[in-house]
Amino acid sequence: MLLQGFQMPEDDKNRTDFSNPPANEADAVGHTRPAPRILRGFRVYEGWLSAQEQVGLVADLRDILREAPLFSPRTPSGATMSVRMTSAGQWGWMSDLQGYRYAPRHPQGSDWPPIPPVLTALWAELVPQARPPETCLLNYYGPEAKMGMHQDRDEGDLSQPVVSVSLGDEALFRIGNLERGGRTESLWLRSGDVVVMEGAARLRYHGVDRIAAGTSLLLKQPGRINLTMRVVTPHRAVQERGLGNSA
Ligand code: SIN
Ligand code: FE2
Repeated sequence: MLLQGFQMPEDDKNRTDFSNPPANEADAVGHTRPAPRILRGFRVYEGWLSAQEQVGLVADLRDILREAPLFSPRTPSGATMSVRMTSAGQWGWMSDLQGYRYAPRHPQGSDWPPIPPVLTALWAELVPQARPPETCLLNYYGPEAKMGMHQDRDEGDLSQPVVSVSLGDEALFRIGNLERGGRTESLWLRSGDVVVMEGAARLRYHGVDRIAAGTSLLLKQPGRINLTMRVVTPHRAVQERGLGNSA
């Protein structure tokens, strides 16, 4: 039943072949973590991950993709999204004609693979007050893919941040307002950049207008991976109320 509404091309695995270029030598010497730039309440860290860390992370993602291949979600209105997706963690995001939601298993029926430790460490460093991440969405953008303006509001505890990691080709990322429409600001997200969406900005509309294919050599093929870690379940107090637990 979970398979309903998904297109899972047979050749998906073959088309998702990320390379493993040698890490930049200078990287081994040391990498300075950047200070954030604040844009409409989003914390933007340019070049948070070193080249070496990015290469290691791509290797982790390759393992995830073997266990949990990319699929092409369909929106509730029936359109096929241009971004292909999968997830790691206890939950994974999915969408089909029944709507957007988090599911405990991949559409193929297997558990989602664990979130790579380098990502949970990044979360702990950047959002130390937050609950642990329960999912890491992996979005794969081919050169023509984009993502319309949307809010991230399928999670059960919107007080918790979303932490986004970009890998591969550059993406033109647009940040809007708390309601649809109005003036927006755009910035290019590059490989190794990290964005924290939190607090009042957590519900800002945002999207990806386009990918600049060929601007990074991290992935063997042109394209971009965006990872977003999130907390999915409601806060415990809300869960208990929901279950009618008066204790
Ligand atoms: C998202 O909004 O889920 C993805 C953002 C991005 O690709 O940078
Ligand atoms: Fe989003």
